[in-house]
Amino acid sequence: MTLKRTHTCGELTAENIGDEVILNGWVGPRRDLGGVIFIDLRDRYGITQVVFTETDEKVHSKAEELRAEYVIGVKGKVITRGEENINPNLVTGEIEVEATDLIFYSEAETPPFEIKDGIATNEDVRLKYRYLDLRRPESQDRLMLRSKFYQSVRSFYHNLEFAEVETPVLMRSTPEGARDYLVPSRVNEGKFFALPQSPQTYKQLLMVSGFDRYFQIVKCFRDEDLRADRQPEFTQIDVEMSFVDEEDIYSTHEALMKKVFKDTVNYEVETPFPRMSYEDAMNTYGSDKPDIRFGLEFKDFSEIVKDAEFKVFSGTVADGGGVIGITVPGQGEMGRGAIDRLTERVKKETGAGGLIYIKMQEDGPLCSVGKFLTEDIVAEMVAASGAEKGDLVLILAGPKPSVLKQLGQLRLMMGKEFGLIDENTYKFLWVTEFPLLEWDEESRRYHAMHHPFTSPKEEDMELMESDPGSVKARAYDLVLNGNELGGGSIRIHDQKLQQRVFELLGIGEEEAQEKFGFLLDAFKYGAPPHGGIAFGVDRAVMLLTGAKSLKEVIAFPKNQKAQSLMDNSPDVVDKHQLDELHIQLKKKLS
Ligand code: AMO
Repeated sequence: MTLKRTHTCGELTAENIGDEVILNGWVGPRRDLGGVIFIDLRDRYGITQVVFTETDEKVHSKAEELRAEYVIGVKGKVITRGEENINPNLVTGEIEVEATDLIFYSEAETPPFEIKDGIATNEDVRLKYRYLDLRRPESQDRLMLRSKFYQSVRSFYHNLEFAEVETPVLMRSTPEGARDYLVPSRVNEGKFFALPQSPQTYKQLLMVSGFDRYFQIVKCFRDEDLRADRQPEFTQIDVEMSFVDEEDIYSTHEALMKKVFKDTVNYEVETPFPRMSYEDAMNTYGSDKPDIRFGLEFKDFSEIVKDAEFKVFSGTVADGGGVIGITVPGQGEMGRGAIDRLTERVKKETGAGGLIYIKMQEDGPLCSVGKFLTEDIVAEMVAASGAEKGDLVLILAGPKPSVLKQLGQLRLMMGKEFGLIDENTYKFLWVTEFPLLEWDEESRRYHAMHHPFTSPKEEDMELMESDPGSVKARAYDLVLNGNELGGGSIRIHDQKLQQRVFELLGIGEEEAQEKFGFLLDAFKYGAPPHGGIAFGVDRAVMLLTGAKSLKEVIAFPKNQKAQSLMDNSPDVVDKHQLDELHIQLKKKLS
């Protein structure tokens, strides 16, 4: 390397005018203007304009060969751009470097897309050439913010004397609810490791070992259906603390969020965070991760309409269902066509059977099923809804909890459609008091709503055998702008209680011993009361950067089919490798 950089491409300002400098970087578009050649030289730190004049014939003619994405070294003098050419959007916008020497470190083929922000290139192409996609400034900014995020998190926990401990990646399967990624063992024929869905059991064991406060920034692996906010391989901030209750977890992690949001995007997070029980969240927002940046809270009309002649209402209520609505401000004049389109969309996207409305028109309320309802009932509904002239009340009727979920989706739809969501704010919410168990119709048994190590609430323990469905857990989620950012619980630290919960989950003594014997055994030797939480790092960084998908904040993500298009994995392996692993592939079933 003969032209070793003296500066980066993001730091020269008017103060450097007159300095002799060397820059290294990638070449942006070249502009030839009557004998003078301009290029933007780019590196991670920024862009500096370099100019090649005809004064130096040799350097100028070499510059004529420059193409986009060549990697070069350039020596020159920092000069002013002149008043009229200043670019106020760049740190380096007042200067340019007049080149006196130029070397090519590397030539480049024309890239499959331009290396710049805001490109519309198909995602598959960007993922195939991920190393080029990552060269774009907005991709680099996202990953740099992620890097800052790690530092902020680490310093937070270190200041509080948390121990950072690595836990195994090859482990026994833990039940977090998704499928495991399995790894065959060559030296243990027919046996498999699982990749961690989370380090849940290990962190609890660390508490038994007396570490008291643990954290880890850790990769987790879950074989589940992928969505914009789910990757098969993702990162958690995993935490466990001894001798704590919910309040300690909340206050510690409100402080974490405050620090991280300040350090990364200079945003002042307001604490303490509001809290809402799972039940209230479902009844008010139809979601266990409500977006509280906007209102449109549910109003339950079931009591009002239970005796109405309109069977859709009274029948639903008689069957234990709900007639529930939201008030959309200022949409009372929505036209027939728009309402029909909305109805179709609601049916298609939420699965609701139909949409009923009350338009709050100038000359009084107009209800879509008004002819089946008395004026009094409509008036009562209007009063309960809090709707005023010009508003639109949208109502769904159906069995609970589906109707709550459907209305929850409709609420989000309306919030987005009518710009009711303040995109510049971060609203945190603790959702608390989750049910311990969730009934699964398909397998006809209870599953743990969080995971099987979550403690039931003390006062509900007596209901565990008589009415398991009503038992509440000491579990909590942290929700941010309608996204589940984290979740955790106070754990069971008593072997007998753990066994009772396993029984409720249909995990017999033998199975429990086989799967979790090590944890149950550990509890026999003195286990402190403990609890913890885990946050999704990718989700947090996605929200901090305003990215639309986790893929944008992960250096080398998988696509929706859990494939890496760049290195073409997963892929077939040699028969020899399979033989060593004692694996024989089943013939493809035709
Ligand atoms: P949980 O399963 O709720 O809890 O996961 C914690 C957080 O991890 C993030 N997350 C994901 N992010 C991206 N892609 C995924 N596929 C994915 N799955 C989960 C979410 C979620 O809130 N062991 C417990 C924590 C505990 O009890 O302490 C656990 O893993 O942001």
